[in-house]
Amino acid sequence: MIIGNYKILGKKYHTENYVSIINPSLQKEYAKVYALNKDTVDKIYQFAEEKQKKWEKKTISERAVYLKKWANLIEKNKEKLANLIVKEVAKNYKDSVSEIERSIEYIRYTIEEMYRIEIKAKTSEQFYNGDKSKIALIERKPYGVVLVISPFNFPMNLSISKIAPALISGNVCVFKPATQGSYFAIELIKLWEQTGVEEGIINLVTGRGREISDYLVTHPLINFINFTGSTNVGKDIAKKAGMIPLIMELGGKDAAIILDDCDLENATNEIINGAFSYSGQRCTAIKRVFVSKKNKNNLEKILTEKIKKLKIGLPETNTDITPLIDQSSLKYQKELISSLNKKAKILIGNKEDINKNIFYPTLITDVIETDQLAQEEQFGPILPIIIYDNFDHLIKMHNNSQFGLQVSIFGKDINNLFYLANKLEVGTVNFNKKSQRGPDNFPFIGYKDSGLGTQGIRNSILSMTKEKVIVLNI
Ligand code: NAP
Ligand code: G3H
Repeated sequence: MIIGNYKILGKKYHTENYVSIINPSLQKEYAKVYALNKDTVDKIYQFAEEKQKKWEKKTISERAVYLKKWANLIEKNKEKLANLIVKEVAKNYKDSVSEIERSIEYIRYTIEEMYRIEIKAKTSEQFYNGDKSKIALIERKPYGVVLVISPFNFPMNLSISKIAPALISGNVCVFKPATQGSYFAIELIKLWEQTGVEEGIINLVTGRGREISDYLVTHPLINFINFTGSTNVGKDIAKKAGMIPLIMELGGKDAAIILDDCDLENATNEIINGAFSYSGQRCTAIKRVFVSKKNKNNLEKILTEKIKKLKIGLPETNTDITPLIDQSSLKYQKELISSLNKKAKILIGNKEDINKNIFYPTLITDVIETDQLAQEEQFGPILPIIIYDNFDHLIKMHNNSQFGLQVSIFGKDINNLFYLANKLEVGTVNFNKKSQRGPDNFPFIGYKDSGLGTQGIRNSILSMTKEKVIVLNI
């Protein structure tokens, strides 16, 4: 077992209070990290606030030096970092490496994008009673101290996608990673320190979210909250945050819609990948499929055959289906299945390997709108199929959801594709491809309970900065 030590307020830290990280594959303690108390968190915020004033004064190029060095150090340590992701959150090695590579690109592109966000000058002459004598200089200012809270499933990407845009635009961060993923976060921040940057620009805070959340989220020195995680926790934070501006990436129930003229071979490949990669533990995973009677039997047959080919096992061996993050997630998969309507049919799966905390990929048909599985975010390898009669029925069932992240529509008729795209209540519509967040420079938006505000490199910089207008009267 390893202990995740890290510096706090620029110094070595001593405590008796730790929180355990469990290796999901072995269901055994893998590491211990500090469980920080209220007093320490308070000092961290004061430290961060003080350091932010100096950080903001630096030029973009000066701040970029450290971010570039960080990206290079991450690149050099790619394999070591990927192995930590494998152990801590049971993502397979290949996907862990690609998460790291994606984040390196993220940092580099963030710097470029920041240069493109310029200070603008605007005259008032285009306005009804405006004239040339008023000129506004419009600058973007950082908010100050940004609280970053990230989830377990993308310990690298969903930390970097908040930290890099926050830092390049002059904010500093208090960074609370998910407990499963916090040993990884310690190693990531150690690389940041190796860039030679001064202390206090990224301030790591570990400990159980539900225990430290109140004083983490309501501290008077927070200026902005950037959160990714479940909808319930997100709503709880939003309530407590009061007037603090925030952006949130929350849960999803992304659907794949099979239209009658679709290429079933392509659609089923995309669905298998979208629903089962990382055992369905992606916000953008395909979590329900809608099909009409015309393609129902074929779809069920092809998906079942493709599911049989998925490799199941430990993440080190690059399997498709790996252990779920914890035992309660495995229990939840079974609960969703046991609450199904009586006519629902399990076509494959519904098996577990309790020693490895693995739930087998499961396909269920004749699921109906009122089933718990049709509405809740399974965050696991179960895929429900729901039958629609016509477009109106499909749109009604699709939109009868608390979530609105993305949708994938598979079909050929462009008029149908656009008709549905305009009717479906989601932030992003994908034609003939699985739902996914990337590429990371696209805007990433959750409608309804799937989020608040827009992420994506440019949008994240804009969200974590505010305009300041200086009017020249000449
Ligand atoms: P989670 O349980 O909501 O936890 C997310 C983060 O919040 C963790 O750092 C967690 O810390 C912390 N936390 C827990 N309870 C808290 C509280 N009461 N107050 C403040 N912070 C608290 O989510 P997760 O299980 O890690 O991640 C899976 C969820 O995230 C899914 O719903 C998924 O859809 C969503 N997600 C959304 C996106 C998106 O872009 N829309 C991307 C990825 C994931 P601890 O780990 O210490 O509890
Ligand atoms: O869990 C959510 C991640 O942001 C998913 O990213 O859709 O590009 O795999 P992705």
